Amino acid sequence: MLKRVKFLLKEVDKFNPKKKEEIELFRLKFLGKKGEINKLFKLFKNVPKENKIEFGKAINELKKNTQEKIIFSNSRFENVVSVQKIDASKPTSLDNLGSKHPISLIQKEICSIFEKIGFNISSGPEIEDDWHNFTALNLPKEHPARDMQDTFFIQTDPDILLRTHTSSVQVRYMQKKNPPIRTISPGRVFRNEAISSRANCFFHQIEGLYINKNVTFADLKQILIYFAKEMFGEKTEIRIRPSYFPFTEPSAEVDIYWGLNNEIDYRITKGTGWLEILGCGMVDPAVLDNCKIDSKKYSGYAFGMGIDRIAMLKYNVDDLRLFFENDVRFLKQFSYL
Ligand code: DAH
Repeated sequence: MLKRVKFLLKEVDKFNPKKKEEIELFRLKFLGKKGEINKLFKLFKNVPKENKIEFGKAINELKKNTQEKIIFSNSRFENVVSVQKIDASKPTSLDNLGSKHPISLIQKEICSIFEKIGFNISSGPEIEDDWHNFTALNLPKEHPARDMQDTFFIQTDPDILLRTHTSSVQVRYMQKKNPPIRTISPGRVFRNEAISSRANCFFHQIEGLYINKNVTFADLKQILIYFAKEMFGEKTEIRIRPSYFPFTEPSAEVDIYWGLNNEIDYRITKGTGWLEILGCGMVDPAVLDNCKIDSKKYSGYAFGMGIDRIAMLKYNVDDLRLFFENDVRFLKQFSYL
């Protein structure tokens, strides 16, 4: 009798109707009053005791499979979602796993380089007020350097804006914490720029801040060398050029030596072999005082860098827009990382 059940199970399994009418015939044959399953249940009485469990299980399986097959077959013809039970405990296919975004990968890499030497990670709001984004950083209203960062203001309130840099987070951090401070703040920033392969109206930065007693430019230089080597390789050379930022004094920009090995290198380094990667400097005492840190007692350095630019370099991507179009053909290429 078990053999008969097994035979019917196979038949159910193979059932593959071409027309909807076949499903009803199939149903009658198995589940009808005089159908196969009822016949089997009738025979159940005569099954020897010791075989009853096994036989009962087999008939139940046959009944369940038949019912599921009917539901499944109907759904195919009606083009509705199958109401078959889903086995949520089944392992998923690894093929469908997403991949980390290249910007997140670089952000994580930079963060862990600084975490290794005791920096913590902090964050601040993307919608910021004028004071934290500009005024506290020595950029009072009408300061010409504000023009360097074309700002999106919130229309109803000229005091509220989308932050133009992550330097606003250092202000917030200094207001909240006492020195010694060692923090890096990754995040998205916004500027009203025409979108092109090299610029976008939003991008990503990482801000670094170290405040303590007796911090000097020599400390800043060491950290920059450390970072460049960790990020771009042991042999990386850096160059520190004097520059101007209202919130640091003195200020500098840092280049790494990228080389001139091919045409692309010539283009991205404008024929010099050097590539700018960040801005930095000693935090201006006025900024410390604005944030209620005693500038007579403490000094510190700060730096800020663009993540997208570094991601472009590391992954050889020549159009910034690719990072933000969410094209899975592009994003999938980073899934092995
Ligand atoms: N906030 C600057 C920018 O967006 C970058 C920067 C320069 C940050 C110098 C700093 C710094 O902390 O010291 O262009």
